[in-house]
Amino acid sequence: MNISIVGTGYVGLVTGVCLAEKGHRVVCVDVDGAKVEAINAGRPPIHEDGLPELLAKHAGTNLTATTDLTAAVLGSDVTFVATGTPFDGRVIDLRYVKQVAADVGAVLARKDGYHLVVVKSTVVPGTTDDVVRPLLEQHSGKKAGIDFGVGMNPEFLSEGVAVEDFMRPDRIVLGGSDARAQDVLAAVYATFGPEVPRLRTNNKTAEMIKYASNAYQAANISFANELGNLCAALGGIDALDVMAGVHAMKELTPAIPAAAAGGRVRAGIANFLSPGCGFGGSCFPKDVKALIAHADARGVSMPLLTAVIDINKGQPAKLVALLAAKLGGDRPLGGKRVAVLGLAFKPGTDDMRESPSIPVVEALLAGGAAVTAFDPIAMPEARKTLGDRVAYAPDLAAAVAGADGVLLVTRWPEFKALPAVLAATNPRAAFVDGRRLIDKAAVPGYAGIGLGA
Ligand SMILES: NC(=O)c1ccc[n+]([C@@H]2O[C@H](COP(=O)([O-])OP(=O)(O)OC[C@H]3O[C@@H](n4cnc5c(N)ncnc54)[C@H](O)[C@@H]3O)[C@@H](O)[C@H]2O)c1
Repeated sequence: MNISIVGTGYVGLVTGVCLAEKGHRVVCVDVDGAKVEAINAGRPPIHEDGLPELLAKHAGTNLTATTDLTAAVLGSDVTFVATGTPFDGRVIDLRYVKQVAADVGAVLARKDGYHLVVVKSTVVPGTTDDVVRPLLEQHSGKKAGIDFGVGMNPEFLSEGVAVEDFMRPDRIVLGGSDARAQDVLAAVYATFGPEVPRLRTNNKTAEMIKYASNAYQAANISFANELGNLCAALGGIDALDVMAGVHAMKELTPAIPAAAAGGRVRAGIANFLSPGCGFGGSCFPKDVKALIAHADARGVSMPLLTAVIDINKGQPAKLVALLAAKLGGDRPLGGKRVAVLGLAFKPGTDDMRESPSIPVVEALLAGGAAVTAFDPIAMPEARKTLGDRVAYAPDLAAAVAGADGVLLVTRWPEFKALPAVLAATNPRAAFVDGRRLIDKAAVPGYAGIGLGA
């Protein structure tokens, strides 16, 4: 099929290269000329495993990028909308989605034949039918369900493993205003394996499935953190051991009859049940807050999800407090040099959006510490947010050399080398593990979230 994708961020670009890999002819559209140029040159503007190879394979053949929305829509059968939907502190900001809906509508006015417009951006329930569809009708002068279709196809990829997630999805949600829209959307995914569940539903339900999924994962993280904080306060309990005990329950690690005798497989959600310094990124915080605000505007309170956000907000400060307790004194951070290991909100990405590293660094600076940061790939991105208020180390060893305190903030596998690096170069540094990545026996005086000092 001929497919246009508007917005070439994490979701739009990964969708584009993966659909090209699946045999479609894809045109990616963005207002950012530099991104368009990079994509056409086969240079990925974001860091994602597997993306460089797929882009190199398809750029210039069945994947091209352009700033010309009109040509892209006229030349395609299906248009995906994958622009950002930030949370403005009060409500979800739909301005980019609305702009694209109006622009695509204007092109549809000139286009013969049926066209499907699919919202892929995460939007609060009702947006596709009540905001996007009327804009498309108004600007095209045509009728949805007759002249064109409106679909909603939420994206569940995780940054860092986005290509793998897209190519091997756990489900495909086929939202559509009518059966024809759902059928055309189903055809886009026809070559994905028959084992992948397809959920045909209306647009509003498709939108809600995305929020429910993110909220569920975020709630697991805050659940683990709330219990972890209690374990640390009570003393003598390691929340990591507690969660290992929880993970072993048959609901989380069921026996698989087909597996080798006694074989059990741990459910992926157990990974979220782990103490840490909180979730970040472009999705969990904004989506949970947007859903709460959407509910609130309709007179529905969401006390559980409100608590999920509140607990999460408190986690970076717990990490800094643990370090302060270890350093001791009236002004424990004043004049101290602190190494922050990891800046990206999770490993495998350079995305800094709502990363817990930001409040951690801010609290350290506010306490009077001099911060040296290291991240395997996110330092150029981090510089845009943190600027020159922190020093950037070229590697792990340089970051911890001479530091009074060391905070592990992102679960980069590279940081597993830390016990050896500390032992060799700076054994006296106060270490606090914000992700419980390091074996607590491997660093003398180990402190960690969910354990205490
Ligand atoms: N990042 C994720 O992990 C993830 C996962 C699932 C869903 N989502 C959702 O997908 C959507 C996109 O997220 P993202 O992280 O890819 O965003 P992003 O900010 O990385 O990319 C958005 C892109 O849209 C472009 N854009 C803005 N206005 C435009 C316009 N009028 N025409 C053309 N292009 C325009 C921007 O230049 C940018 O390149 C959001 O709703 C997000 O919540 C994101």
